[in-house]
Amino acid sequence: MSTHRAPLYGQSTQAVHAGEVRPKPFGAIATPIVQTSTYSFENTAALVEHMQRKEQGLPLLRGEYGRYGSPNAQTVESKLAALEGGEAACVFSSGMAATALTLLTFLGSGDHYVMTDDCYRRTRQFGQEIMPRLGITCTLAPINDAQALEKAICPNTRLILTETPTNPYLRIVDLEQLSAVAHRYGLLTIVDATFGTPCNIRPLQMGMDLVIHSATKYLGGHNDLLGGALVGRTELVAQVRELNHIIGATCDPHGLFLLQRGLKTLGLRMARHNENGQKVAEFLESHPAVRQVWYPGLASHPDHEIAQRSMSGFGGVVSFELDTDTEGTARFIDALQIPYIGPSLGGVESIIEQPALMSHFTLSEDERSAIGVRGELVRYALGIEDCDDLLNDLEQALAQVPAAGASVTEARQ
Ligand SMILES: Cc1ncc(COP(=O)(O)O)c(C=O)c1O
Repeated sequence: MSTHRAPLYGQSTQAVHAGEVRPKPFGAIATPIVQTSTYSFENTAALVEHMQRKEQGLPLLRGEYGRYGSPNAQTVESKLAALEGGEAACVFSSGMAATALTLLTFLGSGDHYVMTDDCYRRTRQFGQEIMPRLGITCTLAPINDAQALEKAICPNTRLILTETPTNPYLRIVDLEQLSAVAHRYGLLTIVDATFGTPCNIRPLQMGMDLVIHSATKYLGGHNDLLGGALVGRTELVAQVRELNHIIGATCDPHGLFLLQRGLKTLGLRMARHNENGQKVAEFLESHPAVRQVWYPGLASHPDHEIAQRSMSGFGGVVSFELDTDTEGTARFIDALQIPYIGPSLGGVESIIEQPALMSHFTLSEDERSAIGVRGELVRYALGIEDCDDLLNDLEQALAQVPAAGASVTEARQ
């Protein structure tokens, strides 16, 4: 039995073949789901051999207990490492588990880390509300401001955590600049590249040490699983894996089967997401009912130049503000026929949300405006539907957008 590493192939070939065991049981092409919580040994000698290999840090030939991994996890981890160009990968039960466990591995009481300010809400919350309970502090630094980043670094700073592209404004971090600053101070660099995917951005080649993904999004790609991943040098990934052996934020074998299957079409799906994103962004930017559009592939985006030199595609998420009010924006969303209304992104089905009424619902209007999230802001996570259909759908819904204030007046009549 061998594991196919497919080292010399292109990314789509790797997505299909890397990490696949050959031959598989019963001559299967698809990896069977090894749905077991624990594993047995033929005899005591086999058990002792397994434990000795484990003690010596040698690759294990078989499973032992579900919290320590599974054949399905091994396949997905090899595939992810190949796709990201990293030495090793580890999968988790969610993207947040990957982030939290990575931070908890490399930080201890008295340590400090820097986080770029435009990041996933829960990641910021973890840093600002949970980590201080453990004596770990974090400072937010603005994106792409090397001076501010250096100013935020203290003697007890251990690492920098960033995210690119960001949500909802799709800011693009200059990872080469960030990693150069960080490494001058001997800091570990971690990036959540969920919105980027290994198809559009290669952070390890830009000097970053570790890459995190919410596999729930593009990697899984079908809105049907929760998962997280960490990719990077073996010795770093091994430390996080070891902590997870204690914590147990492991991914279920069935979820991993879905993730493995999703990864095989990542390149195809991303090509369509990128195409839909660019075309929809251009369409919206030229529409009179749209006030502003944020998409890194548009020349008007503040990080367009960084995106052009560091990314090979800009993804399927487009954010925009309508020239109306909160109610008018809700009416536009309700008029759309194709997307689902909901959180999340990266799946084959388009999903749309008004952040003020969903991801940022619990914030007061003042708190929302402090981070620039207005009621008229829409985040459209485009799926892989035909672009003409998405554009026609937008056209008909935009025709129903009332001018600011008009929707309330009309509703009262
Ligand atoms: C950029 C980013 N990172 C991490 C997460 C968390 O991922 P999960 O929901 O898989 O825990 C999300 C979820 O929306 C996200 O958008």
